[in-house]
Amino acid sequence: MLTLHKAAAALPKPSRSRMCEFLRSFGFDPGKLFLHKLILGIETSCDDTAAAVVDESGKVWGEAIHSQTEVHLKTGGIVPPVAQQLHRENIQRIVKEALSTSKISPSELSAIATTVKPGLALSLGVGLSFSLRLVDQLKIPFIPIHHMEAHALTIRLLNKVEFPFLVLLISGGHCLLALVRGVSDFLLLGKSLDIAPGDMLDKVARRLSLIKHPECSTMSGGKAIEHLAKQGNKLHFDIKPPMQRAKNCDFSFTGLQHVTDRIITQKEKEEGIQKGQILSSAAHIAAAVQHTTACHIAKRTHRAILYCKQRDLLPQSNAVLVASGGVASNFYIRKALEIVTNATQCTLLCPPPRLCTDNGIMIA
Ligand code: KG4
Ligand code: ZN
Repeated sequence: MLTLHKAAAALPKPSRSRMCEFLRSFGFDPGKLFLHKLILGIETSCDDTAAAVVDESGKVWGEAIHSQTEVHLKTGGIVPPVAQQLHRENIQRIVKEALSTSKISPSELSAIATTVKPGLALSLGVGLSFSLRLVDQLKIPFIPIHHMEAHALTIRLLNKVEFPFLVLLISGGHCLLALVRGVSDFLLLGKSLDIAPGDMLDKVARRLSLIKHPECSTMSGGKAIEHLAKQGNKLHFDIKPPMQRAKNCDFSFTGLQHVTDRIITQKEKEEGIQKGQILSSAAHIAAAVQHTTACHIAKRTHRAILYCKQRDLLPQSNAVLVASGGVASNFYIRKALEIVTNATQCTLLCPPPRLCTDNGIMIA
């Protein structure tokens, strides 16, 4: 079996495919013969239909993704039945594409891993029923995946990170700080008491009508804020970080959204423009809100690091902080986190932006 596996791995991908066909013609199941088991990961928890094939050594064989961002930008937010319909329309094509870029056939798969929670029930249902039909057809195991655990563990595809480490997950639907003690052993240290930072940034971007801005029209709210903030002065508006006195590691973003909303309304009056038009001070507002978001996230994370070190939950030196989720692809927020990790002798690790946002690789 080992010889077979080595021979196949040494061959270029098309030959591996031919070898699989050859094995199949003798009644062997290549998926079961190769030591490097191939897992198909499927993600449909929110607004991305994604699939990827990864083997147990962490090698990515291929992936495909269909983002619904543009559609949801037009409707001003995710409408669950619309997201469900788009997942239905795309899932088969995306899975096919992930398999064909991997140059493998479904019968070579060892298992299918699919996000089962948390997420939008209607969206999750599409990936789940598609996967259950496929595992039944292929007679292979099904691996249910927790979306946030997948975000937290993605870094281990790229870096050799030992347990325990601290993880900060900041996305459109989630905001949490946790100590990762093992593959499915998480100690929750803090969470958002209201909305997630990505949700807040999306709402601010909508309120600023950034979809009408020529440079940002196809970007997610958070990305549009990051882009525009580069042209603005973060000190032009003074927005205070929330929960300055709270002695815990929780977060809050609703207050920030309301304060920003009030600034926008005030500026609209001053500039004599209607809601829906772009303010001349939009870039300053984007810079200020991004800065305050970064300060808040960094301060709460600092508390979590100190808490873990005090209680020997993390090593005193070279402890690792992993930041992931869509909002962690923001370079200004990463810089703020880097200040915290430098001051506490920790190492900050972030997956590249395309692995921070939802994808099939992290699920596989
Ligand atoms: O992890 P993700 O793809 O999906 C969820 O699980 O939510 O995160 C999407 C969120 C959106 O709210 C989006 O606005 C935000 O991540 N986001 C960003 C950036 N890119 C995406 N936020 C700040 N800066 C970015 N560059
Ligand atoms: Zn996510």
